[in-house]
Amino acid sequence: MSTRRSGKMVDPCPSLDTIHPDVLKQFPHLFEPLSIGNLYIRNRVFISAHTTMLAENGGPGEKLIAFLEAKAKGGAGLIISEAVNAHPSGSESKNELCSWEPFFPEGLKKLRERLDLYGTIFFVQLFHSGGGGTHAGIMEKGPNIQPSNISFLCEGLVGTSHALRLEEVEDLIEGFAKSALICKDNGAHGVEVAAAHGYLIHRFLSPLHNQRIDRFGGDFNKRLTFLREILIAIRKKVGGDFPIGVRIGCDDFIQESLSNDDIIKICKTLEQEKLVDFFDITGSHEFIDRSLIHHYAVMDDKLGHMVPEVSNIHRAVSVPVLHAGRIINPRQAEDILAAGHIDMAGMTRASIADPNFIKKTVEQREADIIYCVGCAQACMGRVNRNQHVTCFQNPFTGREHVWGELTNTTNRKKIVVVGGGPAGMSFAWVAASRGHEVNLYDDHHELGGQVLLAEQLPLCLELGTVARNLSRQVYQAGVEVYLNTSATSETVIAQNPDEVVLATGSKPYLPQNVQGINQNHVFTFERAFTQPDLLGDSVLLIDNDGHQRGASTAAWLIKIGKKVQVVTEFSHIGSNFEMSLLRVRIYQIFFKNKIPLYPHYRLIEIGRKSVFFKDNYADTDLEIKGIDSVVVLYPPIAQTELEKDLRASGKKLHLIGDCLTPRNIEYASFVGARLGRSI
Ligand SMILES: Cc1cc2nc3c(=O)[nH]c(=O)nc-3n(C[C@H](O)[C@H](O)[C@H](O)COP(=O)(O)O)c2cc1C
Ligand code: SF4
Repeated sequence: MSTRRSGKMVDPCPSLDTIHPDVLKQFPHLFEPLSIGNLYIRNRVFISAHTTMLAENGGPGEKLIAFLEAKAKGGAGLIISEAVNAHPSGSESKNELCSWEPFFPEGLKKLRERLDLYGTIFFVQLFHSGGGGTHAGIMEKGPNIQPSNISFLCEGLVGTSHALRLEEVEDLIEGFAKSALICKDNGAHGVEVAAAHGYLIHRFLSPLHNQRIDRFGGDFNKRLTFLREILIAIRKKVGGDFPIGVRIGCDDFIQESLSNDDIIKICKTLEQEKLVDFFDITGSHEFIDRSLIHHYAVMDDKLGHMVPEVSNIHRAVSVPVLHAGRIINPRQAEDILAAGHIDMAGMTRASIADPNFIKKTVEQREADIIYCVGCAQACMGRVNRNQHVTCFQNPFTGREHVWGELTNTTNRKKIVVVGGGPAGMSFAWVAASRGHEVNLYDDHHELGGQVLLAEQLPLCLELGTVARNLSRQVYQAGVEVYLNTSATSETVIAQNPDEVVLATGSKPYLPQNVQGINQNHVFTFERAFTQPDLLGDSVLLIDNDGHQRGASTAAWLIKIGKKVQVVTEFSHIGSNFEMSLLRVRIYQIFFKNKIPLYPHYRLIEIGRKSVFFKDNYADTDLEIKGIDSVVVLYPPIAQTELEKDLRASGKKLHLIGDCLTPRNIEYASFVGARLGRSI
């Protein structure tokens, strides 16, 4: 069997021969090599395509190379590149990969050289989004394009797309073929064609979008023509000895589009026509939130949620079937592989949270893995906002090149940290790892700060993992931790630290200009949660924060049996979610429970049984009657009580996280780590 490895391998994840027998016994399927075409893949873990916004000038620059190299070094058997635009009509941004850009082939070669150091197989995903500015209708780009001249409902999509003429479709096919050849000539071991997630090829497959009457539209077989001709054209260009795969959804999970049976039929047809060497099965239509939620299952959702549908496809075809979808730990992957549902386990967000998770498994350090909690905030959420990928609990991810490895300090300092939430913990473990003496004070019996409260709320249940991931790093780095200890400015100064870090978080805010706000039946979220027995039956939630806490508080109130109504000053509940698809889960809860929702109303006065509002536009009145308790959520404010005295003491003082500016876990862990690596 050819391995097609080139270059000198350094620090590879141990080969099968050197993995400890105990590990092999526990993970016999995970560490079993796999062949795709004539390629040898050293284990069954692959990293599926994920757009990073780390590309430079349309090609892989040092930032993207370092990001992917970390995963290769961490032991991934196969890495599939992020979506590479296969035709200029599909380009969205220079931070994405574009096969025709001059920097692309050069960057690809460098990337392959670096991945070769670790024996990692590397495929490129070829993609067409459906038009320049698919999401935003960017004027300077070309038109959005689609198979047919029909209107398609999609929030945030600007205008109806141009229906492709026959010669335009043929030009796209040629674009895919040319791109595949560029990839082959510049180091890719294979390519995968993206036919999923509601993007252009998927739209040709789906009766929801494709109503053409030429050879590219009509019955199932004709709707397959675009993908079929792309695969034929690619094969013609690249020759026989080069794996070509298709990424396709197992199901669109909505009645009006493709079902699991439809997809099985497509896969069987492509296999029978000998057009594919592997399938990479995913799921959903990204432009329809109730479908998209199946792809990016969120916290509280079942792990490996698409495995049953994928397994049906696996049973129907004989080429290798790859699958990614909330497979987050090696044991879960082993079980799915052992059950014969799939041939390779994609662990993509798992690798964003911890690129070293396979290496740690091999080294019998599973307990050290930073487990992904499925929030999709700093990975998908940021990419959707055109910011580079990272992880909300591991800010080093996506910053490999810019931040580099941690270096030991040459100027050891004694540092006191007050506050053991994500900001304080991130700072503490990073600074201590670099050789500083770090003492961390927290008044709670456990590290985690507000995360410990949040993890008890619906849709946040896995947040506790973040606290535990970080606190483990704190203890391992040798930080001296003082729990149940309220630090005062005197106790801090008495230690004579060189520098002090305040990470004391935030506190709830109640608007004092609202009449009746300080009555006993008015609760902050924290008080409601810690004293639920004081809540009456009929609870009005006023969510003027718009983040996940508000939505989760509503879900919690419903869960404990309260009669709930929700008012917000914003356009809708959850308007500030970092990852908008979470809205699907919360609205499912609202609609199933017939919860009255009142967007656009600002709070005026709270009475004993009634609460008064005015709408934001015409000042009309709203009175909500029969209320026993009111839970009020505003953006929290910084908790900075120690700051004044500490500044007066002349100690060098840093404020990080919520106590500087209350935001979220992503921000807190980022600023903590950033200060820790530079202090
Ligand atoms: C930041 C991010 C970007 C993604 N970009 C792509 C992409 O370019 N092409 C693609 O087919 N899937 C993309 N995906 C989907 C992933 O390949 C994968 O299917 C998804 O993350 C579910 O797998 P996981 O639970 O292992 O993360 C992306 C996912 C993330 C988190
Ligand atoms: S940001 Fe959330 S979903 Fe994304 S990798 Fe990190 S923990 Fe996982």
